[in-house]
Amino acid sequence: MKITNLGTSTQASFYVATALYKQMLHKKESKLGLATGGTMLDMYESLVTLLDKNQLDVSQVETFNLDEYIGLTAEHPASYHQYMNHILFDQYEGFDPLKCHLPNGAAEDPECEAARYESLLDERGPVDIQILGIGQNGHIGFNEPGTPFDSVTHCVDLTESTIEANSRYFDDKADVPKQAISMGLRSIMKAKRIILLAFGEQKKEAITQLATGNITPDVPATILHLHPNVEVYVDDAAMPDLS
Ligand code: F6R
Repeated sequence: MKITNLGTSTQASFYVATALYKQMLHKKESKLGLATGGTMLDMYESLVTLLDKNQLDVSQVETFNLDEYIGLTAEHPASYHQYMNHILFDQYEGFDPLKCHLPNGAAEDPECEAARYESLLDERGPVDIQILGIGQNGHIGFNEPGTPFDSVTHCVDLTESTIEANSRYFDDKADVPKQAISMGLRSIMKAKRIILLAFGEQKKEAITQLATGNITPDVPATILHLHPNVEVYVDDAAMPDLS
């Protein structure tokens, strides 16, 4: 798998924003698989700039987010719904709210909601470009180590390391939800093209395992070796020492 070092996170973010922009430019009804998290902030900012400067019509674009916390309503400030509104959907006019999908973390029956989301992906997909971040433990979406490669959208118990990493978005670590609904590894692999982004020293080990390790559920991102169209972009700090 080719890992491309684009130098700085700003450069890499702009590069990936351009890929999304071009996708939407060439296909009005593009389907995008979107991620949240710190890694994506600059990328969405660059994307909004590109959309704004070029006034691209995005009314037919359909988006599918990877995951949402169980127990948070769409209005909760730390929900991924709010993250997406704040960073993209409220920043550029024209996205159709009915075409911007995330799992409903407040659903009465989360298992049922996970099944509904997977059916939606099957009906509306496949996704043209799936954007991914990566956890320090190699998770993609919220597919933690040990998640079966054939998993579809499901309810997940978050690991202690993920709860710790995400506690920065909450007032108190105790407020971080312990569960999420996440696209499964098989759901992610259905995308036509996958772009993974990783920045910073703390992601170097996960990227090294992706670059050099076996394909194993212990490092969920290694499933990407089995996909024909994957790009991985990193900054200097996350670039493995491959010599
Ligand atoms: C978010 C997601 C997660 C993050 C990963 C990295 O939708 O699916 O897999 O991409 O936890 O998070 P950051 O970017 O905050 O380091």
